Amino acid sequence: MNFYQLAGAALAARPDRKTIIIDAANFPTDRYILQGYAKERGLNLVIINNEDPALSQHERVTPELLEKYMSEDVAFVTFEVIQYRAGARNDIKALTDIARKYGAFAIWDCSHAIGAIDLQFDKDGVDLAVGCTYKFGFSGPGSPGWLYVSKRVQKELQVPIQGWHAQENMFDMGPTFKKAEGLAGFQIATPSIIALRSVQSSFGIIEEAGITNIEAKCATGTQMMIDLYDAWLADLGFTLNTPREAKWRGGHVSLVHPDGKQIAFALRQLANVIPDYRAPNSVRLAISPLQNSYAEIWDGFSRLKDLVASGDYKKISNTNSKVT
Ligand SMILES: Cc1ncc(COP(=O)(O)O)c(C=O)c1O
Repeated sequence: MNFYQLAGAALAARPDRKTIIIDAANFPTDRYILQGYAKERGLNLVIINNEDPALSQHERVTPELLEKYMSEDVAFVTFEVIQYRAGARNDIKALTDIARKYGAFAIWDCSHAIGAIDLQFDKDGVDLAVGCTYKFGFSGPGSPGWLYVSKRVQKELQVPIQGWHAQENMFDMGPTFKKAEGLAGFQIATPSIIALRSVQSSFGIIEEAGITNIEAKCATGTQMMIDLYDAWLADLGFTLNTPREAKWRGGHVSLVHPDGKQIAFALRQLANVIPDYRAPNSVRLAISPLQNSYAEIWDGFSRLKDLVASGDYKKISNTNSKVT
């Protein structure tokens, strides 16, 4: 909903522009919402191919790649800070600068970045961003999402979903919508207060621990995973699909294997290690920086190695679960 809200606001602010840009490896919700807008309004939806290793390494959207698709017809571009599958980090400032150079907005999906890395919206010139709170924000599945609009553009942007929480003096219950000043004008409806308490607790802990410390632990934890991949997994048919340079990663790594789905299910069912499987062939493994110890990473990778080296993962025949 927050992403729909910001995409619609960006479109309304550039009424004469007919092109919107996203990358092929972006999260389904974001791609589908843009498909919906494109269909409804007859827009030209450009999908940058960043899934072909010949064009992009680890799904990163590089400034050179983006520049090829930019023109004065682009209303907005949207990317993830951390690619949800590969775990690669995009250069927020460089890509935002390119969008701005052409008079377009950049909308950042921070779902896998918030709570894992130090986001610097002012420094990077970010105007629009969304994210969730249930990954590295560890506020629990279904905890509320958020949106960010810089002070620079709050007045200029109008929202497509005109909910009563965005209304100036909402309790006047007036006959017509008048957008409230500031960020309040981008709110939609009543949030779950119980869920907000969990966000408050979790982000209180994140603040206390310090995001730079958390980012450093993500870097060390993912480095340890990469070292263990080199030592144990590279010869077992795995490929690393996450950058080796810590500044281009977040808190997770992606290990590609032809039997990735079966291995991910086996890890869960036979080894008590909980990864994600992400189509078509990625086993996604994260450090939860506030909770996980390095010993747990060692232990989890050791179980993964044993499962694949022994071939035991092939005992899993049913990989039909809807949740992977
Ligand atoms: C990058 C990204 N964007 C959006 C979403 C969708 O989040 P939600 O289901 O909270 O709308 C996810 C969920 O995993 C995600 O990874």
